[in-house]
Amino acid sequence: MIGSPRVHYSATDSTNERARLLAAAGAPHGTLVTADEQSAGRGRQGRAWTAPARSAVLMSVLLRELNETLPLAAAVAVCEALPVEAQIKWPNDVWIEGRKVAGILVEARPQEGWAVLGIGLNVTTEEFPAELNATSLHLEGADLSPEQALAALIDSLSGWLGQPSAAVLTAWRSRDALAGRSVRWSNGSNEGVAAGVDDSGALIVETVDGLVTLDAGEVHLER
Ligand code: BTN
Repeated sequence: MIGSPRVHYSATDSTNERARLLAAAGAPHGTLVTADEQSAGRGRQGRAWTAPARSAVLMSVLLRELNETLPLAAAVAVCEALPVEAQIKWPNDVWIEGRKVAGILVEARPQEGWAVLGIGLNVTTEEFPAELNATSLHLEGADLSPEQALAALIDSLSGWLGQPSAAVLTAWRSRDALAGRSVRWSNGSNEGVAAGVDDSGALIVETVDGLVTLDAGEVHLER
């Protein structure tokens, strides 16, 4: 069961870090770690993740049943938990009207049989780092507390994390924010048009030299 047991911190370094320690200590599948505030929240690509206290859902769940589409399933689950229409920027940023509302960081040790799925969801957040084009749910008129948003997220994750890959891919593709749009990667040195994901979740891009697939990293939308 996703969300039980639950460990909540009023303040901690990173819920992903706490969940990793619980994994190493033998905590069960579904263990949830939440916090009001993080001092060392981690994002993808080695970035930091910051949010003012009690303004966001900051959660990590320990999973002992792994599959390749976990990062994509998590993004679909976040979208479906939201009260407004959301899209996914590959691989798993959740966007509302072109601005990021949630980020997902999966840290896995497949050889030890576990993964930590970390999600940061801006609920009433008003202050963002200058380099982030981010949004929050309350800007869209949704009257939600972080705890209510967490309950919706857990419910949605419980449904999506067990789904077969084909269902996850279909749902992910229907929310693809990049499809048909010009993107750049490798610090802007490569460019092409995004053409969806393959069955492993890798991004397909049409370039002047043909199709390429990107299985990790970051792409930037040309605005
Ligand atoms: C991203 O870069 O988009 C991923 C951000 C993930 C942030 C969440 S907040 C809760 C959990 N604990 C962390 O340290 N990171 C994730």
